[in-house]
Amino acid sequence: MSPKDLLERDAKLLWHPYTQHKAAQTPLAIASAKGASLFDENGQQYLDMISSWWVNLHGHGRKELSEAIAAQADRLDHVHFAGVTHQPAVDLSEQLLELAGFVDKGRVFYSDNGSTAVEVALKICSQFWSNIGETRDSLLALRHGYHGDTVGAMSVGGTSGFFKSFEPWMLKVEYVAAPNCWWNSSTEEEEALSLQHLDNLIKNRATDFCGFIVEPLIQGAAGMRFHRPAFLKAVCEMARAAGIPVIFDEVMTGFYRTGSPFAFMQCDFIPDLLCLSKGITGGILPLGATIASPKLFDAFMGDSFSLALAHGHSFTGNPISCAAALASIHLLKTTDAQNLVSQISDSLTKKMTALVHSSSKIEKPRVLGGIAAFEIKSSNPDYASAAGKPLAIFAQKHGVILRPLGNVVYLMPPYCTTDSELALAFDVIHSYLETLE
Ligand SMILES: Cc1ncc(COP(=O)(O)O)c(C=O)c1O
Repeated sequence: MSPKDLLERDAKLLWHPYTQHKAAQTPLAIASAKGASLFDENGQQYLDMISSWWVNLHGHGRKELSEAIAAQADRLDHVHFAGVTHQPAVDLSEQLLELAGFVDKGRVFYSDNGSTAVEVALKICSQFWSNIGETRDSLLALRHGYHGDTVGAMSVGGTSGFFKSFEPWMLKVEYVAAPNCWWNSSTEEEEALSLQHLDNLIKNRATDFCGFIVEPLIQGAAGMRFHRPAFLKAVCEMARAAGIPVIFDEVMTGFYRTGSPFAFMQCDFIPDLLCLSKGITGGILPLGATIASPKLFDAFMGDSFSLALAHGHSFTGNPISCAAALASIHLLKTTDAQNLVSQISDSLTKKMTALVHSSSKIEKPRVLGGIAAFEIKSSNPDYASAAGKPLAIFAQKHGVILRPLGNVVYLMPPYCTTDSELALAFDVIHSYLETLE
């Protein structure tokens, strides 16, 4: 089929995510992918500098993953997970708990994606309190967090700016400000105000809150907003001291994206619930996992089914997804992902420094692990801001996929990305910025 036919059929048949179809560019018809590159129907190459929506870890087309998937599909493709178990799910739970350092200290609940991993965590928090005889009908969250598109996840991400139309459906949530931190910025004063606000909320209403959710170190969808680990530790410790379970949504930050296996490891704080997805399978099959502390799990034990967690999905614990995740964790170890991300981080830092010196049009540079971001100066710096869009179009024409969040431009490359591929991406950004000077 010709690329033209494909696009015509797409235009008639498809409703794409996060897309205003009236104004949207014609979608890019991708035919194949290898390493850090995507290839369109005409064979044109594009560097995937957003890891295909933050999921891809090792690069595209890794044989180690596709072979594990094929072998598992031959052995056991799918089976329901209530009253049944299988080795890939048990092995994966062991591996996840080991990577998180939670051996013997956690229970893994599988779901399908990042939103459901968060939804499960929120439901565990709510039911934990009702199971021990308390009603707690509100949640605490950091302002600007994004946690997914199901109703609970939207509620705790209510300040992300995406969900105005759904306000009547939202759960009760109180937000605590989380100042954005970039090179040379000083956020201590704002952080102190935030801590004061949380302290007041807890003093007056601690028994309203069933849980506190954070996107640790980097709030992705809100525009790659970075936080200081010391601030995160302080807010989380305050919630914990009041007995409020703390959820770390590591759907984006997990699996070395911020430099360590998980972001919580840089905050010197162990969460009560850890939400994982995206990179869990190396970014090639859907899977969500929510890891809960033994204290939370134990509150669901009892003689009545009403104490059990009434949550599950048709594909909970899908063996093929679990096999992909096991192969991905093996690859993280054998390729020394920590070192790969550290090299990418050094390269991003050098190139970002040069970029900042070469253009007066950008500000607020920041790099952590394999994620770099800066902002195009704009009088309207919100998500709907047009500032980043022309860059995305320019970059695509020059063989680089970027997807700025409003005026925030970021790079989140797969871990196989070479220094010369990063150099190409920065050259294209530099050329675009020159057109603004
Ligand atoms: C931090 C975070 N949590 C949850 C989600 C939702 O994940 P999914 O799109 O897989 O439902 C995302 C998606 O971008 C995310 O970045």
